Amino acid sequence: MALWSGRFTQDVSEFTQRFGASLPVDKQLYAQDIAGSKAHAAMLAQVGVISQEDARIIRQGLDDVQGAIEAGEFAFDINDEDIHMSVEKRLTEQVGQPGARLHTGRSRNDQVVTDTRLFAKERARALMEANLQLREALVAQAEANRDVIMPGYTHMQHAQPVLFGHHLLAYVAMLERDFGRLQAAYDAADASPLGAAALAGTTYPLDRFMTARELGFSRVIGNSLDAVSDRDFLLDLLYACSVSCMHLSRLCEELVLWSTSEFAFIELSDAFSTGSSIMPQKKNPDFAELIRGKCGRVVGDLVALLVTMKSLPLAYNKDLQEDKEGAIDAAKTLEDGYQCAAGMIATMTVKADNMLAQAQKGYLAATDVADYLAKRGMPFRQAHAAVGHLVHLCEERGCDLCDLSLADFKAESDLFEADIVGALDLRAIVEARTTYGGTCPSEVARQLAEAKGKIASDSETARPGTRA
Ligand code: ARG
Repeated sequence: MALWSGRFTQDVSEFTQRFGASLPVDKQLYAQDIAGSKAHAAMLAQVGVISQEDARIIRQGLDDVQGAIEAGEFAFDINDEDIHMSVEKRLTEQVGQPGARLHTGRSRNDQVVTDTRLFAKERARALMEANLQLREALVAQAEANRDVIMPGYTHMQHAQPVLFGHHLLAYVAMLERDFGRLQAAYDAADASPLGAAALAGTTYPLDRFMTARELGFSRVIGNSLDAVSDRDFLLDLLYACSVSCMHLSRLCEELVLWSTSEFAFIELSDAFSTGSSIMPQKKNPDFAELIRGKCGRVVGDLVALLVTMKSLPLAYNKDLQEDKEGAIDAAKTLEDGYQCAAGMIATMTVKADNMLAQAQKGYLAATDVADYLAKRGMPFRQAHAAVGHLVHLCEERGCDLCDLSLADFKAESDLFEADIVGALDLRAIVEARTTYGGTCPSEVARQLAEAKGKIASDSETARPGTRA
């Protein structure tokens, strides 16, 4: 019979026991559950609800339970329903009466959400760390390839030349925002619900601020009904994970494209590629594809919890038990995705010559030729049309703008002079884009320096006090 079975005369069936149990999922939260119980016991003793001796025995007993779990010696029993019952039952079996006093002034409703908030905080921090490692890998490649010119695209068509470092730093910018979202999710989780009890608070003189302090929460939730029924902090974490996975899927899509024979901009290392069981020549970017694909599951986890929460009346409802599985999955998937992407980026070979060769195709200088005319007085719209004609001429001849003669240019406009050749040079085109955030080397150098500075300051946030 369950620990709550006093008023029951019949057990649930084996099937419903299994259907209702959350143990297969929440046993992963054993450390948080035990930490919460230790804090609760210490506080109960502090305010005189249990004796200091009972608190000491409980603490020792909980340490033993944790030791048994970590040694793989704890036989989880599905009949215990969840991690809270498992730990409490084992504790009481071991230490007797003091263990049976632990649940005074507490409900599983405030207990479970305490565990979940501690877990969310720990996961958010781990994700912030993993996010930094991917940013470090991207910044290192951006720096190593800061001079490499590639075609920049709009509509997947060659548009204007850009520096490869500039392109990679765009992903660093996305990941910086993701870090901010993870930090916001950490802050959202950082409030203690413990002491809200089932829903209304308790008749015991609990010190909620003491347990919050003991557990490292920065604040206490001010409304007991809200404390047990709120899962916004998990939605925040799931949203942060979803957006970041979406960013990883964009990066990985480019890695897949860039590794094709058509692009051949990069080669992924063998360590991040797989072969085919039938085609001996194949080298497949499986891991980039997998990261791209896993984004679907993570967004699904977010949507699943949003829909579970929709229309849920106050306060605790068993529906809330569905909250943890998706959050655990999303956080793990993103953490693995960060790690895998960092490895792929750090070990890929950049084929600079191929990037440059592609940048020479597709009239990437066209905007600059139009700017050349506009800077000499022609209204830009007219200049745009004139260069359009020149591109058309190139298409007819099957050549590039740089193959046209000065006479060809002059036939379109008298404003063209011999220095037009300079306007067609890809490096000059890149170097001329000096606007703040543009692709010229000095702007890319600024972005690189700022990305490194942000990694240093975000490291301090992810691991407070560990870096000078
Ligand atoms: N296993 C439950 C969950 O994950 C714990 C809380 C159960 N509370 C209750 N009153 N049945 O949400």
